[in-house]
Amino acid sequence: MKKVITYGTFDLIHMGHINILRRAKALGDHLTVAVSSDDFNTLKHKQAYYSYEQRKEILEAIRFVDEVIPECSWDQKIEDIKKYDIDLFVMGGDWEGEFDFLEDYCEVRYLPRTRGISTTKTKEDLSHRND
Ligand code: CTP
Repeated sequence: MKKVITYGTFDLIHMGHINILRRAKALGDHLTVAVSSDDFNTLKHKQAYYSYEQRKEILEAIRFVDEVIPECSWDQKIEDIKKYDIDLFVMGGDWEGEFDFLEDYCEVRYLPRTRGISTTKTKEDLSHRND
């Protein structure tokens, strides 16, 4: 069984998220999603609308997702790859090259981002809706 992992905040789920989850799952048999915890988001100066528990529950309801684990620090990836027996690490193209050091542990692939959508853009669009 080929096991795939990907990381992210996954707040206000949008088509960019769905596309990367679908494509990541299609590259293997089992998809683990490591979701930024609320404390880790604070560290990244990111504030999610939905709490970790809510984002986890939403992701678990998506059929491409088999397992959700928390991402609590930048440097847990090697440990996760070993612990969950991961064969393939997938990230969006915005991270191209950043995680090549993981190639010592598993295959690493960057998938092109879906154009024109992000959680940040959704928030901005909504905030301007009544302008
Ligand atoms: N992603 C993608 N296409 C998009 C948006 C996100 O492929 N249009 C991917 C990212 O590359 C990442 C994963 O989805 O691998 C989770 O991204 P996340 O940071 O949670 O989503 P963003 O919409 O980019 O969030 P933000 O605007 O807060 O940075």
